[in-house]
Amino acid sequence: MVKICCIGAGYVGGPTMAVMALKCPEIEVSVVDISEPRINAWNSDKLPIYEPGLDDVVKQCRGRNLFFSTDVERHVFESDIVFVSVNTPTKTQGLGAGKAADLTYWESAARMIADVSKSSKIVVEKSTVPVRTAEAIEKILTHNSKGIEFQILSNPEFLAEGTAVKDLYNPDRVLIGGRGNAAGEKAVQALRDVYAHWVPVERIICTNLWSAELSKLAANAFLAQRISSVNAMSALCEATGADVTQVAHAVGTDTRIGPKFLNASVGFGGSCFQKDILNLIYICECNGLPEAANYWKQVIKVNDYQKTRFANRVVSSMFNTVSGKKVAILGFAFKKDTGDTRETPAIDVCNRLVADKAKLSIYDPQVLEEQIRKDLFMARFDWDHPVSLQQIKAEGMLEQVSVVSDAYEATKDAHGICVLTEWDEFKSLDFERIFESMRKPAFVFDGRNVVDAVKLREIGFIVYSIGKPLDSWLKNMPSVA
Ligand code: NAI
Repeated sequence: MVKICCIGAGYVGGPTMAVMALKCPEIEVSVVDISEPRINAWNSDKLPIYEPGLDDVVKQCRGRNLFFSTDVERHVFESDIVFVSVNTPTKTQGLGAGKAADLTYWESAARMIADVSKSSKIVVEKSTVPVRTAEAIEKILTHNSKGIEFQILSNPEFLAEGTAVKDLYNPDRVLIGGRGNAAGEKAVQALRDVYAHWVPVERIICTNLWSAELSKLAANAFLAQRISSVNAMSALCEATGADVTQVAHAVGTDTRIGPKFLNASVGFGGSCFQKDILNLIYICECNGLPEAANYWKQVIKVNDYQKTRFANRVVSSMFNTVSGKKVAILGFAFKKDTGDTRETPAIDVCNRLVADKAKLSIYDPQVLEEQIRKDLFMARFDWDHPVSLQQIKAEGMLEQVSVVSDAYEATKDAHGICVLTEWDEFKSLDFERIFESMRKPAFVFDGRNVVDAVKLREIGFIVYSIGKPLDSWLKNMPSVA
């Protein structure tokens, strides 16, 4: 029986391996992690991450050919193929701080693999890493290899949180990069055979190692660039009276452009886009390509601009002050159908409103209060590092923020509502009831264009929707970006 082990039981390692175990019943898959609480949760009824359909997959295979364990070394020792899916956050200190990927966790996993292995193994980079990381990892592994052969493959993951199970069942492509020699090709073939259990072979793309590593960074940069492009358009739409949804539709029907990823919003978030673009920028700079670096920097700058623009619009619309006013925040996760808050635009918007002394009442269907409090009080880039290394900011702001368990409680007596995540349930809220319970004038700032603005205006709300023609009220309260 082929044995697979995955180091890192996170948003990628957990779902990826669960689907692999489901689709390959004759392969034993173990997912290991140094975090005991995380592994305990994977072994319980309340999984550590929320993903539609994931509970069902895990229930079908756990204890059969899918195992979650903290016994990292034993499972690595016993495996033929070792996936490494540990976190690769942005460096917070030292050379490349704020840009370069921190490979501490990857390096320590590689050293451990070298230490405990007694048989040849294929080591698969699942984490998103800088170009040529495989070369460095190869050096670590072969330096301590005691004659054991290690083959390194790059197999970046393209799943999107919120649709991870669907994406894993039916991926647009699986990318495998390997060395061009005979041993490398054999390793690529072995991994290809695993995916071929459920992925049509024409969707399995094989490249050299560096192309595979760079393709992942490039794909995320292109996706984020589309969002920043449409968001830049949304600012112009508001200034001119155009409607960004109509513009995006007209643009997206061009088959050369395509309709996806053209929704204007308060900005992109998530653990990957910003981190991977920063990493790409750093790689460009290290390779003496400042113009290429500056091009990608702009994608992040527009994203920051969009978040600031939104928060400023909230403040300026409400008579240029939110001091002491209750503002309801509907949605905190970086997108719907996930509880993940890493780099969510809600953090920046909330911090900006808190700085202006607003009283926030936050509701998200999946994010726990503890997480929200941590996010609002943690220094930037710290979220992806172990708790012991995280620096918590001053806690003076605590009183200004409350986290509640439903949208009606959040909005009661509020002056304004900010919709920051596109959860489906926000579309069907009873806005008449909400209007009655709010202070007047009652504002809705829709950062995801999910509410029915026409209906809300009929009820009496003053509504701001990203990239849409402005209410006369908002026009007369010009916002400074
Ligand atoms: P995560 O932070 O959810 O999970 C990483 C896990 O690795 C943590 O549970 C941590 O305890 C564990 N870990 C760290 N060092 C370890 C070690 N030495 N031994 C055992 N366990 C260790 O991270 P996530 O989101 O799963 O991301 C993993 C990688 O996949 C990152 O490189 C990320 O950029 C990439 N990626 C993430 C996607 C996403 O949607 N979250 C999508 C595609 C790629």
